[in-house]
Amino acid sequence: MARRPFVAGNWKMNGTLTDARELMAGLRNAVEPGMPVDVAVCTPFTLLYPMGKELDGTDIKLGAQNCYFEKKGAFTGEISPGMLSAANCTYVIIGHSERRYVLGETGDLLRAKVKSCLEEGLSVIYCVGELLDERDAGKTTDVVGRQLAESLSDDLDHARLTIAYEPVWAIGTGRTATPDQAQEVHAFIRERMGGLFGADAGAAMRIQYGGSVKPGNAAELMACPDVDGALVGGASLVAEDFAGIIRAAAATA
Ligand code: 13P
Repeated sequence: MARRPFVAGNWKMNGTLTDARELMAGLRNAVEPGMPVDVAVCTPFTLLYPMGKELDGTDIKLGAQNCYFEKKGAFTGEISPGMLSAANCTYVIIGHSERRYVLGETGDLLRAKVKSCLEEGLSVIYCVGELLDERDAGKTTDVVGRQLAESLSDDLDHARLTIAYEPVWAIGTGRTATPDQAQEVHAFIRERMGGLFGADAGAAMRIQYGGSVKPGNAAELMACPDVDGALVGGASLVAEDFAGIIRAAAATA
């Protein structure tokens, strides 16, 4: 099954409007018309409205990095799925390991977030991935399987769901999973998604790899049969690097 590659930049807590405009100046032409790849940048909340304008007329879509599950009300400091839609977001990242391990988000909370965002019409990038001691203990698939099972259910609109496999030990460390390590977990995720949503849906679902993806390693990772693109942190803040990763993804299509 041919899946269209998908590259998303996760800017994390980086960037003022000045930085973002500078980055966009370098990125504006990174996706040439007709390039066989979907591209998004997931910016801090404060940049969503201006970045929506900056991205107008480009083939780069806008995404957020988090969202609350309630529609509105007394939830100080939170942002709702409807607010993201109103700010022209197409995508939202849910369950990033920094939300799980730095901010303490649980599987139950993430389940509510995924459901609410999909119901709003957003496309969700749901992140999973094991810690280094979990990998060393041979528990990678147990952990990833649990993260999938506890936050995804068969009633979800899976057509707008992407899974991102981000081994926590590879995030921001310069240490990438080998293509074989990535492929093994991606194949496992696809099988689980097939079990949950049906074989066709599993075969159609895009699974991104994330964790120290750079222009130099993107091609070999994305050459793996079950790796359909990348969720990129640090390298997405450097226009030439992000553009290189986009080109590597498009070349696999
Ligand atoms: P790095 O690419 O900086 O390792 O970050 C990966 C990541 O967490 C993307 O969500």
